[in-house]
Amino acid sequence: MDLQLTLNGKRVVWQAEPGENALDLLRRHSLSSVKWGCGEGDCGACTILLDGRSVRSCLLVAAQLQGREVTTVEGIKEPAGPPHPLQTAFVEKGAVQCGYCTPGMLLSAKALLASNPSPSTEEVCRALDGNLCRCTGYQKIIEAVQLAAGRMRD
Ligand code: FES
Ligand code: FES
Repeated sequence: MDLQLTLNGKRVVWQAEPGENALDLLRRHSLSSVKWGCGEGDCGACTILLDGRSVRSCLLVAAQLQGREVTTVEGIKEPAGPPHPLQTAFVEKGAVQCGYCTPGMLLSAKALLASNPSPSTEEVCRALDGNLCRCTGYQKIIEAVQLAAGRMRD
């Protein structure tokens, strides 16, 4: 079936295979930041923003993207602009180890800061609790989100 969606600010028309899920569709179109982890909704590696909300793409059928606005980590900064403040903060705080969880963490954090610009540590933990980091870098990830939040408020 033909799908029309807005991907990282651009309208695209894609063909979805019968029964294909959104994670496979995105990866087939070179969105390699969207990771396959568990395939069951448990790890958050496949996180995308759907109309600004953080969702697990492995749990969506591709047809659910029809007419929606999809953001992957490739689209979180302005095309010709500097890195997003979250990306800068993750690097500065050493919150990226193997990097497998990082795109999903960044997107969940972006969704959090859009609705809550001054999250407490507990609120950051709650927003990211569906995103697993196999390198267990949670403390630095939380610090990075709060660093970015402070800069984005200023
Ligand atoms: Fe989707 Fe793990 S691959 S939640
Ligand atoms: Fe390796 Fe999180 S940095 S899984």
